[in-house]
Amino acid sequence: MTTILWVLATAIGLLAVGFWWIRRNNLAVYPAGRAPRELRPLNTGCELGAQIMMATTAESAGGTTGTRSSGASPAAPGPAALKRRKKTPGPPRREFLRTGLLVVVGGMLASFGGASLAFLWPTLKGGFGAQIDVGDEGEITQAIRDGGGRFEFPSGRSYLVAYDPGLDPDGQYAEITNGAPFMALYQKCVHLGCRVPWCESSKWFECPCHGSRYNRWGEYQFGPAPRGLDRFAVRVEEGRVVVDTSTVVTGPSRTGGALKQPPEGPHCN
Ligand code: FES
Repeated sequence: MTTILWVLATAIGLLAVGFWWIRRNNLAVYPAGRAPRELRPLNTGCELGAQIMMATTAESAGGTTGTRSSGASPAAPGPAALKRRKKTPGPPRREFLRTGLLVVVGGMLASFGGASLAFLWPTLKGGFGAQIDVGDEGEITQAIRDGGGRFEFPSGRSYLVAYDPGLDPDGQYAEITNGAPFMALYQKCVHLGCRVPWCESSKWFECPCHGSRYNRWGEYQFGPAPRGLDRFAVRVEEGRVVVDTSTVVTGPSRTGGALKQPPEGPHCN
């Protein structure tokens, strides 16, 4: 009988301790073994170890654990709470990277397009393809005389030669000279495009490539060229000689020349 009482007392005592332990760890609302993972006690073997591990886990997660007195973690943040805590205000990372990539690619394309346009855009001020102010009328006249009959200005890829309307009775070149005592000839050979130099001895323009020759006014004289040299309109404005290199005027036909000028010396080619 005494043994039975002793066993009953021991069982009641164990049950009391068990209930006390369950209430202390807030496990009373969960069936055994079904509590959430974060609420399950850590298997440390001792209460002090459990407390240390819980504190370490909570600190590494960046959360506030509060005071705990056992291995259970009723106040520990769950995975969802940790996820929410990691989120920062602003656009999602993927959207931010996509926008950044678009900005970089757009910037590169804009730079490339701008550089291409700058390279291809014609120079409309002072260069070939524009209205070129060659210089003072008196100085140009003197330069032509000093040059033996022509003045070269490379920026316009042209020659200026003296033009005398008295030698052009039909006014063949009146329209492109506009009353100026000059005519502007394009240096480009009308045969295959070589630059045609001035021949000091003959006072003609003579092409070194295939032997075409043109007189002082760029009119056809000899060789495979189909016509005389092309030319540009000239005008004198307030004493300044201006050549319009924006428009190429087709040269006269092989037989359409006006100037009667035989070679004044040996040919260069
Ligand atoms: S390119 Fe001048 S003659 Fe042929």
